[in-house]
Amino acid sequence: MTTVRTQGGYAPGRLTVHRTPAELNVVTRALRGAGRKVALVPTMGALHEGHRELIRHARRLPGSTVTAVSIFVNPLQFGSGEDLERYPRPLEADLEVCREEGVELVLTPGVEHMYPPGSDTRLAPGPVADQLEGAVRPGHFAGMLTVVAKLFHIVGPDVALFGEKDYQQLVLIQKMVRDLDFPLHVVGVPTVRESDGLALSSRNIYLSAEDRHRAATLYRALREGAAVSARGADAVLETARAVLAEEPALQVEYLELRDPELGPAPATGRARLLVAARLGTTRLIDNVPVQL
Ligand code: PAF
Repeated sequence: MTTVRTQGGYAPGRLTVHRTPAELNVVTRALRGAGRKVALVPTMGALHEGHRELIRHARRLPGSTVTAVSIFVNPLQFGSGEDLERYPRPLEADLEVCREEGVELVLTPGVEHMYPPGSDTRLAPGPVADQLEGAVRPGHFAGMLTVVAKLFHIVGPDVALFGEKDYQQLVLIQKMVRDLDFPLHVVGVPTVRESDGLALSSRNIYLSAEDRHRAATLYRALREGAAVSARGADAVLETARAVLAEEPALQVEYLELRDPELGPAPATGRARLLVAARLGTTRLIDNVPVQL
């Protein structure tokens, strides 16, 4: 393997943590210069099995690929009244997960590194960002795309991996990469679930024991809806709606069937069934593929 000179910022097979974007940028440039590929898993930390799965996908990529993980709770994508302050930040445990999974590079910038004073340029996503999650969380996707675009420039990855759990996020990132000619490939990784079907999320820790049990209804509704897809879109939605209604504590915000790019659902072919609901103070989202 080619020796990579990065002033100590990279040690093959070992985890190196970089605090500033500039430091990591020097390292990934040197790696690419030496013919290595870089895979990036952007995260907000509180790493769970779903993140581990993204990292494992990255590590299975063919060729001599270095896996980088960014850990940054991005204030731009939180609205007022959302959980920015209480969002979990277990940095040491996160670094241990990265070590266990064979990650070689981690970026843990502070807000001052990502958004120094005067940094007020923002990405403007298209109309898809105003629907579904965007209708309930105004500005969320502009903030999310802004940080993802910055991370792409800082790390310069060949591949970036995101979970399908945040399906609208994945669609918008893929679209940004196409629309703005980012020279990288975005990979969507299927959702990792608990044994009762609940999609893994860093926010599941907010659920009380009772709500944790109730939360499984969300996936059951999606699964039972998808199971009647041969009978058409109305049957899918009616079935899913009926299952959701069995759990009165779930306050459903939307249940929608869309095409895979989140346009109107087709009469036949591939579609996506998406749901968002509140359980107490916790918002849950989930989605599944549907073949109409
Ligand atoms: O999915 C997340 O964890 C975040 O939205 C992301 C992509 C890391 C951007 O902050």
